[in-house]
Amino acid sequence: MLQHRSTESGVAPISASVGTMKILVTGGTGYIGSHTVLSLQEAGHDVVVLDNLVNSSEESLRRVSELTGKTAAFHQVDLVDEPAVEAVFDQHQIDAVIHFAGLKAVGESVQEPLAYYYNNIVGTLNLLRAMDKHNVRSIVFSSSATVYGEHNPIPYIEKMEIGANNPYGRTKEQIEDILSDLGNADDRWHIALLRYFNPVGAHPSGRIGEDPQGIPNNLVPFIAQVAVGRREKLMVFGGDYDTPDGTAQRDYIHVVDLADGHVAALNYIAERAGVRRWNLGSGRGSSVLEVLRSFEKAVGQPIPYEITGRRAGDLPAFWADASSALADLGWSTTKTVDQMCEDHWRWQKNNPYGYNAAEPAAASNA
Ligand code: NAD
Ligand code: UD1
Repeated sequence: MLQHRSTESGVAPISASVGTMKILVTGGTGYIGSHTVLSLQEAGHDVVVLDNLVNSSEESLRRVSELTGKTAAFHQVDLVDEPAVEAVFDQHQIDAVIHFAGLKAVGESVQEPLAYYYNNIVGTLNLLRAMDKHNVRSIVFSSSATVYGEHNPIPYIEKMEIGANNPYGRTKEQIEDILSDLGNADDRWHIALLRYFNPVGAHPSGRIGEDPQGIPNNLVPFIAQVAVGRREKLMVFGGDYDTPDGTAQRDYIHVVDLADGHVAALNYIAERAGVRRWNLGSGRGSSVLEVLRSFEKAVGQPIPYEITGRRAGDLPAFWADASSALADLGWSTTKTVDQMCEDHWRWQKNNPYGYNAAEPAAASNA
């Protein structure tokens, strides 16, 4: 097994090819986390998951285990509980961390900024302090395209000035800053900041997928719940943008491609100290109506919708310049929007209430 954990004396990774590592995945029961646990296990790594289950269910890990035939050790721990975080590092010889855990609803972050700053920033600080204490200094962090803010031209390139325009996005930006300062101060750290564009889809087995609590904020989960009969119709936020069909364009990325991007980033930083940032997107924009049409194709019938006013804070269009990830990591997306919708639909159709067997009491129709 590759020993790539740095030591107090600053010893660099010892192998040019990455072997089996023990990876701590925070937020590993969540949507992107569970798909990444699967990709890591398929790549031969041992996985330890830490999650407080505030927005997920341990059922996702049971299903990952069914698919891979491997079991991840699970710790129900809140990252704001520093001693509990340390205990996980005491118990396992961790080589590297993939840090997904965090709150992620933009609207909620505007209403409850303290909860977002506390959870995301304090949680990350506790994680980093525990890592440092235990000589674990490799981390892949879930950042977001939201850090590019409102004023950058498209496509977004990693070297652009960033500036998020909501508390959620600012927690991402601030964590990027914390990690950059850390990497600059101490060259034993190996840091990847991954800026995701719009993750959608599900594992093609239909066994794991996105399971939003309450009314979905994001486009594809909402369409999926209309298609399965949980909601009446999609409200398309804005039909008068300066785009080919008047609806807003985004860079959708299949969650399995995204998960594989983490394995690629992990392999890259295992051998290289320093701080690096990569966009993980397809480099193409798709409009709301294009996504809706793809989903209708997957379902085989029309999905009711109505064009309504723009959503506050939305941008007309953005997508990634995805060339750095290709050049550095040899990674690019492989799946089309049609495939994202087919896979998302398979998951939703087979699991109409997500990981719950029946409709949760609070999740009535919008
Ligand atoms: P998710 O909510 O499904 O997963 C996040 C997980 O973190 C959940 O399982 C939740 O229970 C856990 N968590 C939250 N706070 C915690 C804490 N204090 N301690 C322990 N666990 C905690 O979300 P996701 O879509 O899988 O997103 C994963 C990461 O990627 C998040 O950091 C998110 O901000 C980021 N991201 C997501 C998107 C997206 O559209 N899904 C886009 C860009 C970035
Ligand atoms: C959202 C987040 C952003 C995050 C990104 C990644 C907000 C304001 N922003 O952005 O921080 O990084 O997800 O997944 O939440 N739409 C509809 N009807 C709906 C839902 C969405 O028309 O019911 C439209 C939106 O107006 C947008 C597009 O669909 O044009 C995509 O929306 P969404 O999935 O929420 O993603 P983003 O707005 O890109």
